[in-house]
Amino acid sequence: MDKLLITGGQALSGNVAISGAKNAALPILFSTLLADDIVTLTNIPHLNDVTTTIALLGRLGADITLGDNMTVEVDPRSVNEHVAPYELVRTMRASILALGPLVAKHGKGQVSLPGGCAIGARPVNLHIHGLELMGADIVVEHGYIKADVPGGRLKGAHILMDTVSVTGTENLLMAATLADGRTVIENAAREPEVVDLANCLIAMGAKIQGVGTSKLVIDGVERLSGVNYRVQPDRIETGTFLVAAAVTRGSVTCTHTDPSLLEAVLVKLEEAGAVVETGEDWIKLDMQGCRPKAVDVTTAPYPAFPTDMQAQFTVLNAVAQGAARIKETIFENRFMHVPELSRMGADISLDGNNALVRGVETLSGAEVMATDLRASASLVIAGLVAGGETLVDRIYHIDRGYECIEDKFSMLGANIRRVK
Ligand code: EPU
Repeated sequence: MDKLLITGGQALSGNVAISGAKNAALPILFSTLLADDIVTLTNIPHLNDVTTTIALLGRLGADITLGDNMTVEVDPRSVNEHVAPYELVRTMRASILALGPLVAKHGKGQVSLPGGCAIGARPVNLHIHGLELMGADIVVEHGYIKADVPGGRLKGAHILMDTVSVTGTENLLMAATLADGRTVIENAAREPEVVDLANCLIAMGAKIQGVGTSKLVIDGVERLSGVNYRVQPDRIETGTFLVAAAVTRGSVTCTHTDPSLLEAVLVKLEEAGAVVETGEDWIKLDMQGCRPKAVDVTTAPYPAFPTDMQAQFTVLNAVAQGAARIKETIFENRFMHVPELSRMGADISLDGNNALVRGVETLSGAEVMATDLRASASLVIAGLVAGGETLVDRIYHIDRGYECIEDKFSMLGANIRRVK
């Protein structure tokens, strides 16, 4: 199993090109199942979760061509299977995003129930309930969600999401595009990835109003066409590199990104003492050699502070001047990085979903274990600032969501390499 070996202590400096957004690419890849023609997607990141999604689309019968620079061309006209099997779903929960398009386009679909997850229970009741309101008959048996639409076409419905759910909103939004009549999704997620998916669907011919708000109104159409669509930049990858720059007291410019997608994160970085400059597609963070100041953080749905940046800010606070409180409100078990950071010398007290982080002067390198994607990223950042060597194990989590992470950090001056 691969590991990352990091020798800490270098202030990061230079430019890093940000990849396409994982959490936008995945739903957009699944949305190709809705089209009647070839869909060409660009700026698709080269990640394990993308490979899993492409494998799943292929298993359903789609014809897929990979071009240069991760251009992906999907011809969904040959889809003749409707089952997303356990062996693929168990490696990626986002496979649930196959359900809405399959049911909307083919009148039936089966997706294995995603299994347990390190960060919380992560039920899919809202996905199921919304599709039932749109007329699907759904049973959950033998570990599968099995959906059938009597008559073959979903009907528009008025759906109130009890909890703001990103993939829940995406699944129902995709399903509604081909339903008969109007669907209203209240308390919809407003995350930029939902907006990117909606924009792609609109380019395919979908009729969607309220994009970027908590009320989506979708008038179903008979068919969606092929399209050429570019996936938005990854705001979480951007934020991860900016925090790494702040923690190492460096100066880094992220290019090929979009500052408007991460305002809450930039505000917190400025509060931590960073000098942040932005252009249309770049963000420069300069710590001017100073130690960051501790900042309180509460995670919540967009536009508030993202849960996917919580672990990285835990590390920032771990080496900052002062103490800060971190409150996680989205997932019930998303502090798995804390015991590992404590082994590196961090001073963090946990009380349920609250962490009190007291900044220490320095961390010390250790062998640590990655537990989920963002926790892994936080351990890499900790390794970059720690004295001595840090060995991060189980980095397959990182490869699910960060493209060439060791190459990108090396180009910023970090001493990091992949070892077997
Ligand atoms: N929830 C329910 N019922 C549902 C669906 C969700 O109770 O049917 C609850 C969840 O248990 C959670 C809350 O709603 O407490 C929010 O979860 P959400 O559904 O928004 O999460 P998700 O759609 O499964 C996506 C991202 C996550 C990101 C969250 C929150 C993708 C593929 N995944 O997950 O990304 O943390 O939204 O922003 O888009 C990551 O990239 O590392 C990652 C975990």
